[in-house]
Amino acid sequence: MKPADLKGNVKKDQTAFIEAFSPELVVHSPGRINFIGGHTDYNNGLVLPTAINQKIHLYFRKNSSNNQCSVTSIGFDEVLKIDLHSVKKSNKQWENYILGVVQGLQKRNNAITGFDCIIDSQLPIGSGISSSAALECGMAYGLNQLFDLGISTLDMIKLSRDAEHEFVGTKCGIMDQFAVMISKKEHVVLLDCESVSYSLIPMNLKPYKLLLLNTNVSHNLATSEYNTRRSECEAAVEFIQKYYPEVNSLRNAENHMIYDLKNKMDETLYKRSHFIVNENARVQKAADALRTEDLNTFGDMLYQSHHGLSTLYEVSCPELDFLVEFSKNNEHILGSRMMGGGFGGCTINIIHEDAIEDYINKVSMAYEQEFSLNLSPIVVEPDGGTTHKTNQ
Ligand code: GLA
Repeated sequence: MKPADLKGNVKKDQTAFIEAFSPELVVHSPGRINFIGGHTDYNNGLVLPTAINQKIHLYFRKNSSNNQCSVTSIGFDEVLKIDLHSVKKSNKQWENYILGVVQGLQKRNNAITGFDCIIDSQLPIGSGISSSAALECGMAYGLNQLFDLGISTLDMIKLSRDAEHEFVGTKCGIMDQFAVMISKKEHVVLLDCESVSYSLIPMNLKPYKLLLLNTNVSHNLATSEYNTRRSECEAAVEFIQKYYPEVNSLRNAENHMIYDLKNKMDETLYKRSHFIVNENARVQKAADALRTEDLNTFGDMLYQSHHGLSTLYEVSCPELDFLVEFSKNNEHILGSRMMGGGFGGCTINIIHEDAIEDYINKVSMAYEQEFSLNLSPIVVEPDGGTTHKTNQ
């Protein structure tokens, strides 16, 4: 059976289809969570993400063509045909993640020839756990492996991010792709997005667990407002530089500078910079708290982060705010905040393992009553980054 024959039948016999496809290479590419460091990555700041045990599986094999490829998405029940001689943008978003990566790889090493791929994803789209980075990195990793392209991990991370800038149009930072590729089981990554250097911190949350609550909303402001935030931060830097020429990103700005300029600065730019400067400090404090297993301080940093994201950075939404507020009435929850770009997606909650079931029942009922929407809970664990298995 060829991938194209799958259309319409995908969901009926997935396992048999993948077996018949007889992949040479299977890649597992995880989603990611970010404990703290909201919107700091494209401001050269600090973030504290890790990959999770929910993944996209990508099955690869070479075909006999020089330039014809097919990529089948089981979730979308669609097949993307690629001509390697003319890789260009599509009008479908999921295809652009792939096309952008293929072009990025070709620019570095033009040794890719015809291949077929099947994508099977466990990651909910638009939920803030970066199914997009998982897809980009899984694709980059798989093709690098299949065609022995010799591209470094850091270069794959960067070209995956660039695919998102150039093909999809989101001017994202580097955090998602970095976490997806670099993470290690039972650890979190403290990433400095200025130097792109990182350390791995062991994560021992016992008896607490990580509960994601997916709002199941993805307000369509997400991409446009995301890019607007990035420009606002750039404008803030330009303004601060007039008084403090040493500041070349919000990472180097300090609280006293922002306070000094409060009355001179546009109010929106003040709020954005105030948030980013303090969020960087919170990431550092949260990382220290994790190292000393001070989970109360760690949780408190998450709450403070959410408050700032909602009131100063203004990337939350009523559904996310409701969930974070609701969690504050539960003594078994240490901290909660929105994750990802905002305007929908998930909250991350640090919750005692014995309280999970009861909390899910209560919060789901309350959420449904308030918004007439279902809530999707997912318990996740920190896991390793993108990896593969060969079948030959
Ligand atoms: C999205 C982007 C990341 C980061 C987060 C916000 O996930 O892809 O680069 O900016 O939003 O922290």
